[in-house]
Amino acid sequence: MKIAVFASGNGSNFQALVDYFKKNQLSATIDWLFCDQPEAYVLQRAKKTGTAFTSFSPKEFASKSEYEQAILEELDNRGIDLIVLAGYMRIVGEDLLAVYENKMINIHPSLLPDFPGLHGIRDAFEAGVDETGVTVHYIDRGVDTGPIIRQEKVTIEKEDTLATLEEKIHQIEHRIFPEVIANLVNMGDVK
Ligand code: GAR
Repeated sequence: MKIAVFASGNGSNFQALVDYFKKNQLSATIDWLFCDQPEAYVLQRAKKTGTAFTSFSPKEFASKSEYEQAILEELDNRGIDLIVLAGYMRIVGEDLLAVYENKMINIHPSLLPDFPGLHGIRDAFEAGVDETGVTVHYIDRGVDTGPIIRQEKVTIEKEDTLATLEEKIHQIEHRIFPEVIANLVNMGDVK
């Protein structure tokens, strides 16, 4: 099975996935990184890890549909079976959904359905809730609404700052995201 990772920024989850796949014998490979932000640090990570990568921005296209068709052409050329969204900060459109519905998995830094959107960690912190967490889920037509595969909770302690909470969330992400993807791959359970 061939996997593509989509990311927009730092790429620490991309790194965790690549490291896990290097350490463990799996019947899948991370074949391609796509990034919609041509200056993002994740591209340096792709170079260092020897992962094939492509980056272009939707701004280079007349419409979101044309942008996604350009991505689809790359996915098709590379024979990608599964897309893993690891900090891809865009809503997936109809073109990608038409081809990869049930074959796109996202990680989100909150206990969905609470705190969807771009700032899951900050929104939970500012809301003053006692716990938040991480959700891994399939992508559907809504924003962070698809079927949930795994969730893990984290307690927000009185001493926590936004920075310490972010650190706790990222640690959970880096542990559970590769595990979930590996389980799906090994069980042949990508819908
Ligand atoms: C991660 O915390 C991920 O859950 C979040 O972006 C961060 C990317 O970090 N995704 C979303 O908020 C999606 N709505 P990374 O670039 O270091 O992997």
